[in-house]
Amino acid sequence: MSSVEVSRATEFSLSISEIAPDKSISHRSAMFSMLANGTSEIKNFLRAEDTMNSLEIVRNLGATIEDDGVTIKISSNGIQEPSEILDCGNSGTGIRLFCGLLSSANGHFVLTGDKYLRHRPMKRVTNPLRDIGAKLDGRNDGDLAPLSIRGASLKAFNYESKIASAQVKSCMILAALHADGVCTYSEPELSRDHTERMLKGMGADLHVDGLKTTIKPMKELLSPLNIRVPADPSSAFFFAVAAAITPDSNVTLEGVTLNSTRIEAFKALERMGADIRYEQIDNKYEPIGNIHVKYAPLKAITVEDNISWLIDELPALSIAFACADGVSIVKNAEELRVKESDRISTVVNGLNACGITTTEYEDGYTVTGGKLSKASVDSHGDHRIAMSFIIAGLRCGMNVTDLECINTSFPNFFELLQKITKVEFK
Ligand code: S3P
Repeated sequence: MSSVEVSRATEFSLSISEIAPDKSISHRSAMFSMLANGTSEIKNFLRAEDTMNSLEIVRNLGATIEDDGVTIKISSNGIQEPSEILDCGNSGTGIRLFCGLLSSANGHFVLTGDKYLRHRPMKRVTNPLRDIGAKLDGRNDGDLAPLSIRGASLKAFNYESKIASAQVKSCMILAALHADGVCTYSEPELSRDHTERMLKGMGADLHVDGLKTTIKPMKELLSPLNIRVPADPSSAFFFAVAAAITPDSNVTLEGVTLNSTRIEAFKALERMGADIRYEQIDNKYEPIGNIHVKYAPLKAITVEDNISWLIDELPALSIAFACADGVSIVKNAEELRVKESDRISTVVNGLNACGITTTEYEDGYTVTGGKLSKASVDSHGDHRIAMSFIIAGLRCGMNVTDLECINTSFPNFFELLQKITKVEFK
């Protein structure tokens, strides 16, 4: 499966209960189970490459994993030195959070990933960890994987991060749990807060006050997790855009986390004119519910605040921009340049190939709504770029190449897409 041809869609009405489980929460469920004093039980764990790599790493670190296909049970007797190199595949979340988890563990650990991950910046975690005594190294003075870690004692810290990054925050919170005193971490804007919610739920002594989190070191192991992972709003969003750009269509996305740090892209789509309704049905660690999205003519917007709340959805949102009336603007989004691809250039170049006018800036871009035309777009190994341009194809037909990456986050994407349109693999 190296390329796909998708056809234009006509009106559809769909309720989807099989959106991929949340990637961020699945990674954390596997990792945090290593901090518990008993068996954690995880239902609806994301069975995609990124998160299965994290689960395999947890196994290599000595955890016992039982999996009956429905519930994954993880028990740990503390982190053991692995005989294997720990391969995070394509996942920035995997490698950066494991850095925090392993910096204080007894032993030597080597973390690596695929060719894309090995080019992504790691100093954002290795620098603050080294400042508190962690023994970490990697290529380019600790900026590029493979990274090696020799567990060490960590000093208490007060760290003010310059970037709103949940990966950096989570890495430092995990380090703080084993530091020699009370630690604080603050960030310029609130990033996704699954780590804080889940660790608090497990009994960690962690206090969040606005943008500042205070963490007391663990005196004893935490309570096991017992969680059903909700659907991933970042994956659900592809189908929200599909409904929002296909006249007379609507979709219900079932069982999605409604955590406000994760649904900002739906709010943006709402500001563009789409008809969106949220229906909360549960609240465990996070509010969870259904999101109903209905087509309406879209108008351009500017996106410049709380960028980390929709950073992963900007490629798909940009397809909605291309179908809207007017010029949409994205600002303060320089972080897009260091994602699975340089998403400012992959989005802008992909849209240009489809006949859409754009302007590129260092920290963002503009998209002038117009008529999308069928093109051939390469994903550059980036799952969100691949799925975004496939969704664009619902308007005009599209050929998208380099599709394997979709398995990192949404293995059943095509199965669901086939409910809307014709999909042909080449
Ligand atoms: C994630 C945090 C975000 C996001 C990524 C998942 C997480 O990255 O883009 O897909 O699970 O913590 P940053 O922390 O680099 O912003």
